[in-house]
Amino acid sequence: MTSFKELIINKKIPQHIAIIMDGNGRWAKQKFGRNRIFGHTKGVNSVRTITEACRDIGVRYLTLYAFSTENWSRPLTEVNALMKLLVRTIRKETQDLKKNGVRLNTIGDIERLPQDCLQYLQEGIDETQDNKELVLTLALSYSSRWELTNAIRNIATDVANGALKPEDVNENLIQSYLATKNIPDPELLIRTSGEQRISNYLLWQIAYSELYFTETMWPDFGKEDLFKAIYDYQNRERRFGKTSEQLTIE
Ligand code: IPE
Ligand code: IPE
Ligand code: MG
Repeated sequence: MTSFKELIINKKIPQHIAIIMDGNGRWAKQKFGRNRIFGHTKGVNSVRTITEACRDIGVRYLTLYAFSTENWSRPLTEVNALMKLLVRTIRKETQDLKKNGVRLNTIGDIERLPQDCLQYLQEGIDETQDNKELVLTLALSYSSRWELTNAIRNIATDVANGALKPEDVNENLIQSYLATKNIPDPELLIRTSGEQRISNYLLWQIAYSELYFTETMWPDFGKEDLFKAIYDYQNRERRFGKTSEQLTIE
């Protein structure tokens, strides 16, 4: 049987894929009758697998929604377990990321993270800063409205202090005030677990992204699932408002 990898590899690979990694809790409960934390722990394996797969096929940016602003409202035991898991994972994976050419990056209100978390994250970011193959961005304590609010506040401040004029505000300038300022917009956004919503993720950046929803829960999401999503993406016509005929002429 032909694999999806063979089908996609000689066609245009998206340079940026964003993923809403969803379904860890339900996966643990439905499949094993275990608690949600078990699902999060297994979800880390998918992060490793998908990061490797992306690097392998030449994706340049992978942005993973790992913890949202809204997730702070979960039970404290779950929040604490997630933070511990984050620390453990970063400590364990940093050397491999370094070796594999992956640069670690974060977006979000990370000052809200526990001190040890912040420290290991910073170490991971520093250790991998010269890597060039893939930028792995973890959205942590992130929400799009938080990001946009910050951007608007900073633009307003710069207008008030004279660094900017109101007429300087255009799409490129707004982009440069976002947490993703050095990252191109994702061509493809994947959400696992069957939910079909955006949950406050990258609202500005996904203006023209292709959306791909799958029933597969995040801990079950493997390389072939990723390649299948890319295959789906490659077979869409991205018109950006034009007509199909215009695209074939150009
Ligand atoms: C995604 O899985 C991981 C985080 C949000 C941290 P969930 O924890 O949302 O799992 P479900 O969606 O409840 O199954
Ligand atoms: C979105 O998943 C956030 C992350 C994947 C980190 P949620 O499970 O928190 O989103 P909702 O509650 O289904 O919208
Ligand atoms: Mg969820």
